[in-house]
Amino acid sequence: MLPVIGTFAPWTDPAVVQIGRLPAHTPLRGFRRRSLDGRWQLEMFESPDAVPATAIDGDRRRAVEVAVPGNWTMQDLDGFDDLPQYTNIQMPFAGPPPELPERNPTGVFRRSFDVPKAWSSGRVVLGVDGAESVHAVYVNGDFVGYGTDSRLPSEYDVTAHVRPGQNELAIVVVKWSAHSYIEDQDQWWMGGLHRPVWIESRPSTHLADLPITTGYDAATGSGTVSLDAFVSFGGVPEAGWTVRATLFDPNGRQVGSPHTGDVPHEHARPYQFTGFSVAAEFAVKQAKPWSAERPDRYEVRVELIDRRGRSRHVESMLVGLRTIETRDRQLLVNGQPVWIFGVNRHDHHPDRGKAVTVDDIRDDLVAMRRLNISAIRTSHYPNRDEFYDLCDELGFYVIDESNIESHGYNWSVCDDARYRQAWVERGARMVQRDRNHPSVIIWSLGNESGYGVNHDALAGWIRRADPTRPLHYEDAIRIEGWDDGGRPATDLVCPMYPTIDEIRSYGERGVGDRPLILCEYSHAMGNSNGSLADYWDVIVATDGLQGGFLWEWKDHGLRQRRPDGSVRLAYGGQFGDVPHDCNFVADGLMSADLDPHPAAAELAWVYRPVVVTGDNQTIASSGSVRVENRRSFSTLRDLRASVVAVGIDGELARRRWKVPAIAPHTAADVALPALPSGTVAVRIEWATAADTWFAPAGHLVAWDEVIVEADPTVPSPPGSRQPADLVTPTLSLFRGPIDNDGFKLMPDLARRLRVGGQALAAWQDAGVDRTDPERLVDHTVTVEHDEAGTTYRHTVEVPAELADLPRVGVAFELPVGFDRTRWFGRGPGENYPDRNRGTMLGVWSAGIDPLPYLVPQEYGLRTDCRWFEITDSSTGSTVRIEALGAPLHVSAVGFDAGELYAGASAFDLAPPERVVVHVDAAHRGLGTASCGPDVLDRYRLGAGTYRFSYRVSLLG
Ligand code: GAL
Ligand code: MG
Repeated sequence: MLPVIGTFAPWTDPAVVQIGRLPAHTPLRGFRRRSLDGRWQLEMFESPDAVPATAIDGDRRRAVEVAVPGNWTMQDLDGFDDLPQYTNIQMPFAGPPPELPERNPTGVFRRSFDVPKAWSSGRVVLGVDGAESVHAVYVNGDFVGYGTDSRLPSEYDVTAHVRPGQNELAIVVVKWSAHSYIEDQDQWWMGGLHRPVWIESRPSTHLADLPITTGYDAATGSGTVSLDAFVSFGGVPEAGWTVRATLFDPNGRQVGSPHTGDVPHEHARPYQFTGFSVAAEFAVKQAKPWSAERPDRYEVRVELIDRRGRSRHVESMLVGLRTIETRDRQLLVNGQPVWIFGVNRHDHHPDRGKAVTVDDIRDDLVAMRRLNISAIRTSHYPNRDEFYDLCDELGFYVIDESNIESHGYNWSVCDDARYRQAWVERGARMVQRDRNHPSVIIWSLGNESGYGVNHDALAGWIRRADPTRPLHYEDAIRIEGWDDGGRPATDLVCPMYPTIDEIRSYGERGVGDRPLILCEYSHAMGNSNGSLADYWDVIVATDGLQGGFLWEWKDHGLRQRRPDGSVRLAYGGQFGDVPHDCNFVADGLMSADLDPHPAAAELAWVYRPVVVTGDNQTIASSGSVRVENRRSFSTLRDLRASVVAVGIDGELARRRWKVPAIAPHTAADVALPALPSGTVAVRIEWATAADTWFAPAGHLVAWDEVIVEADPTVPSPPGSRQPADLVTPTLSLFRGPIDNDGFKLMPDLARRLRVGGQALAAWQDAGVDRTDPERLVDHTVTVEHDEAGTTYRHTVEVPAELADLPRVGVAFELPVGFDRTRWFGRGPGENYPDRNRGTMLGVWSAGIDPLPYLVPQEYGLRTDCRWFEITDSSTGSTVRIEALGAPLHVSAVGFDAGELYAGASAFDLAPPERVVVHVDAAHRGLGTASCGPDVLDRYRLGAGTYRFSYRVSLLG
């Protein structure tokens, strides 16, 4: 049994949130700190009750060596069974809260550490930055403290337990606790010490907390910085201590003179004592405000000075001068509305799990900015400290979310008094730690936990402690209504996965005073994000709508080595985890390895800072197009524009384009250079003029096109042609179902509970997935051979009962040597009818696309093709398809629809043995029905007659 706490088992009691833990505070870096990261001894037990006292300070009988920070679920435990488990809503064990399963993996982490002699005069503090789910600390066998909330740091004063020289540390981490019920986020359940552990020496009297509030007045250009320096006296509070605060501007120049104040010590005077704190306030004329576009920071330096005038503790904080408000259905930063070009980000790394490094975080941020993402919701818990420092420095707007999700029990726990303290502590401790970060513009009360008294308790605490930031909580408006519901808990209307009509209606009705910012939308599971641009058409056109956070940044695939030596990225169930929610954890815009999925390019386009619009008429009449600057604080001077004239056989001209300065949130008409004859479309590209932190100069930031010739003629290519005998197109109606069509790996969920898209079930019921398509529809084709090739003219009658098919088209196969493609159509990347606005018309080339999704499904389409060539690069032999009449959608991939349908993991597919070419007259959109609305009607395939024609020839 665990010493001291074993008998009352705090992990079983939701009301015990901490024992002996120091109060949370803003990060303090002026102490002498030693990292305890590295190799630790870990001994695993079946439950906390099974841990013998000797495991804390006796023999380490069955200990293995593991990395800290690390998840034990991701490391070799020498036969102890505890692997990652993935569940979405359901808890991994039977409830009700706060019941725990009998088997409760518990790890005793041990290592020794040195305490220098010089540390004897002050306090010694141990920090545990993240333990899943709860932990207890023992030093030299003494119980020191206990902490909950796996995503915030815990600190313990261990002065009384350490001695100079070597000391023994044991941290016991219990995997399942009463608190697991409020950490029921949609992610892997892990275990262990996933963030740093450290020890530091603090002077016995020191600065214990430094909350700083800033403001910026856009009308006068002045700013304010106010701080409260809280002092902790080691012993009896003494007279004569002072705090001196100095402010420096972003160039390091001192602003005004320092403020000095006496630290109160007469705490025993009734009604007089206000705490051991000193306040200071600075007024800054002509301030440089902070924004994500211009993240200028000021330095606040605070010194604690003893009675003899010696400086005893110095802290330096970087802050941003800015004001956040919600007013008239707008979220304003420094008085200006800003577009929320956001994503939801989880901590995830395919090898390290939840133990992400600072470099991992930076990699995420770099990749995000390359896609024009400038806002992040820390779904669904606070991140490591360094995340916020980077967001401050690089410029991101952050919704900082409390680590509270009781999704499995969201109608009860939020009103359960036993959990009240946990609610308040989780949110309050986050605020106490993160309040000085300019990047944090909104506090979130958590995710998917219903709406109850515990939420309002937390909201009340935050509103009083930090009146400078709005609150966010989705379930409050879901349950009580968007127009005026849930006001105590949320200042935003922040729905998840609404339809376009729903958000338009909120905006157009003009109700309420709150801006609508989607906390989650456009579920990026597999081949997805249909209608992303349609959402944004409405967002930019409708008052009261301001953007949102796409779900979600990255797949949570975990690298798994299998007995046969092969390696794959695994999803739920592939570790033998039961229960599990399968590949619902693979729903990222990026792969787990940070490779962008094709939708990433569409998102970058949708989130572009500059938009060019026009049509052939405006070009013909005025020769100009409209350029709109969507930024809030800066011009477009950092970008270089080019105009590209696109012809049916390639680029006709490319010119630098001089654009006058365009003020934020304004637009101007700008003349285009003269266009060469044969121009089908004009493409305007904007690239970075200089190297930036996220990309070298020349990085493409924004692009648009204006179609000049809607119906171009396709000239015959030079050289000889002949009929392509190796091609025999056959009718094709099916596609490898995408995750949005239905959960093929979770048929019970899809069919019985009707969760997710229902299209696949309908296709299965109609036999579309297995029936010869010629038997499903009436199909006639005429074939003509001439010297230009073979012309096919198809007519397909889709009966009413087969409306909403995946595709109407043909397919044929080519030998695997056909390895290059070139086409005139939308590109360069994969695109679909409802996810092609960010792809431009042009002549593009590619190889045979590899399958970009973790679970095999339809991929690789290019829409609106006038011609498409597939070449065997070793022989030069080329199959060319020309659309006769309407353009066609074409793909050339390694697998047919049946293989994609049958596959459960991209890693299980055998290397392709041929090239499968699809030529579609129509292809169902992608939508986002795996979580959210299905494909809009206009992207569906109605019943009726489909006519399409094309010519196939062999060139070379
Ligand atoms: C939301 C939830 C997320 C995630 C997403 C679906 O309901 O907040 O955590 O589960 O759906 O992937
Ligand atoms: Mg959830």
